[in-house]
Amino acid sequence: MVLISGAGSNLRALLEAADDPRNGMRILAVGADNPCDGLAHAELFGVPTFVVSPQSFASREAWAEMLLENINFFKPDLTVLAGFMRILPSNFVRALTPKLINTHPSLLPLFPGGHAVRDALVAGATETGVTIHIVDEGVDTGPQIAQERVAIHADDSEHDLHERIKVVERALLVDVVKQIGQHKISLSNIARLHQSTNKDAHGSD
Ligand code: GRF
Repeated sequence: MVLISGAGSNLRALLEAADDPRNGMRILAVGADNPCDGLAHAELFGVPTFVVSPQSFASREAWAEMLLENINFFKPDLTVLAGFMRILPSNFVRALTPKLINTHPSLLPLFPGGHAVRDALVAGATETGVTIHIVDEGVDTGPQIAQERVAIHADDSEHDLHERIKVVERALLVDVVKQIGQHKISLSNIARLHQSTNKDAHGSD
């Protein structure tokens, strides 16, 4: 299951990977929070789509419940946020984590949030990158699965830098999803390890 909000180039990479039977992955459906361009990729590959817009609901929680109902209908092993630009409320996250992952265009914990590429440029960073992580109840704070670095050039615009990041991001996301499917990455182990590391760091009260 893949959720998107925009152009869907990460989704496209996943659809292409799923098209190769050697990769052993199947995209059951694609969901979005708005009727975005990226849904066309799913349609091209014959994958069902659904849109659940927050505007149609009285609360974020009610919106997320409906989103969850749509996802659960397909009984996915994994839900991938691939450029899904909404913060998901706790009821949604608790229902799916750790089988809920996100791709983020920075080296987290640096530059969380919706303007990660711009923020890295404004901060004068010389490198940034991509992080794939399990989604928890914070914003881009969940246990990390994989990261890759991308150099920032002196004359980079936000668009140029984001495009370069996205090339790396697509490959990393496909690789991570493949490895989860092949049980080479265990999301529950990563989540467990993260929990016990945090407990150690904060004492055992
Ligand atoms: C990606 O860089 C994602 O990490 C970010 O938004 C971008 C989405 O790109 N949150 P696309 O829709 O997959 O082309």
